[in-house]
Amino acid sequence: MQKIMVIFGTRPEAVKMCPLVRELKARAGIQTVVCVTGQHRQMLDQVLEVFSVLPDYDLSIMQEKQTLFDITEKVLLRMQKVLEKERPDVVLVHGDTSTAFASALACFYLGIPVGHVEAGLRTHNLYAPFPEKFNRKVIGIISRYDFAPTAAARENLLQEGKEDSRIFVTGNTVIDALRTTIRTAYTHPELEWAKDSRLLLMTVHRRENLGEPMRQIFRAVRRACREHPDVKVIYPIHKNPSIRETAAEILGNVPQIHMMEPLDVLAFHNFMARCYCILTDSGGIQEEASFLGKPVLVARDTTERPEGVAAGTLRLTGTKEETIYHSLQMLLDSPDFYRDMSNAASPYGDGQASRRIADILLEPGAIVPELTAPAEFLKT
Ligand code: UD1
Ligand code: UDP
Repeated sequence: MQKIMVIFGTRPEAVKMCPLVRELKARAGIQTVVCVTGQHRQMLDQVLEVFSVLPDYDLSIMQEKQTLFDITEKVLLRMQKVLEKERPDVVLVHGDTSTAFASALACFYLGIPVGHVEAGLRTHNLYAPFPEKFNRKVIGIISRYDFAPTAAARENLLQEGKEDSRIFVTGNTVIDALRTTIRTAYTHPELEWAKDSRLLLMTVHRRENLGEPMRQIFRAVRRACREHPDVKVIYPIHKNPSIRETAAEILGNVPQIHMMEPLDVLAFHNFMARCYCILTDSGGIQEEASFLGKPVLVARDTTERPEGVAAGTLRLTGTKEETIYHSLQMLLDSPDFYRDMSNAASPYGDGQASRRIADILLEPGAIVPELTAPAEFLKT
């Protein structure tokens, strides 16, 4: 029996790994061990609860205003102990977080094969997003199996010299998640509050947007509210205290804006399905919104999700007040512009990514012990 360890630690990884955990646990011939780092606490627990996933290990690393050094050091050292005890045949990590990077590094040091879920997304700037672009690239150096969500992601990996036979285009597991959470009869008091208005759903959290870029994004939203009385904004705020301070300063006293605690993923997906449009710097939301046909203004200078831009659902606005405001105004005032961005497209898959990944891992001979490095080398 193959032992597969699934590792994640933040909200977006959990949303995208829980469907895979559930799929692996339903299969015979696999022992699935779930290890969460707890890089996020409340935001991770919300997702585990929605998908009824109970981790076997929880490294509980989170601390308030943690730095990249804190996360990397704690994950690396605590993960070593878990990996040495469990000795999985393969470890699955996800995407581009510091949890994924430090866990893949720990596997590398111990000679344990790594499968990278959501592999191959790239921007052409090592600092955008920061540090995620670096994390994803380094995981790509370590990983033995790459589960690329799209053909373009696969192409990026081939261009970096990765072996064709170990890259699998599976779709993105975020669509698997989305297909289980949307409810036609969903209601919520906040949706009732916004029901006679056009609802702008918003999230902002990227490290590189903290400070002045975030202030500019918030000012653009405040201005859009002032000039469009029929707009209401729902903003579930990330738990990061730095974001909350800036949001309170600029958006605190605008009656059209409701700021609130992070929504659980079932609620958030249903808010997305009912909103007029979205403003975000999130990665996962770009993929989900494309599937739902909701226009997304992406408050970033680059995106590693060009498929959504090509499909027309995503528009990069940068982080200057003026350009964001201009795009908001176009969405609110130009029906043609709005219609052009509202076409549902599904460049990120059909909701079967977890099934495909499990099939690949279960194929006889698919998982082979890592590497050619001599045992004594790995022990030092
Ligand atoms: C992390 C990921 C980022 C991902 C984001 C998703 C890295 C380097 N960054 O960034 O790729 O897009 O998660 O949201 O891995 N906090 C809480 N409770 C929580 C979660 C966070 O209090 O449940 C607070 C803590 O004070 C924490 C801070 O938020 O120190 C920042 O969390 P952290 O994981 O370091 O960074 P994110 O910006 O969330
Ligand atoms: N999400 C959520 N509650 C919220 C905001 C977002 O459950 O209040 C979900 C969203 O549907 C998506 C994921 O969180 O699946 C995205 O996480 P985030 O934006 O924090 O990280 P990123 O995708 O940018 O790495």
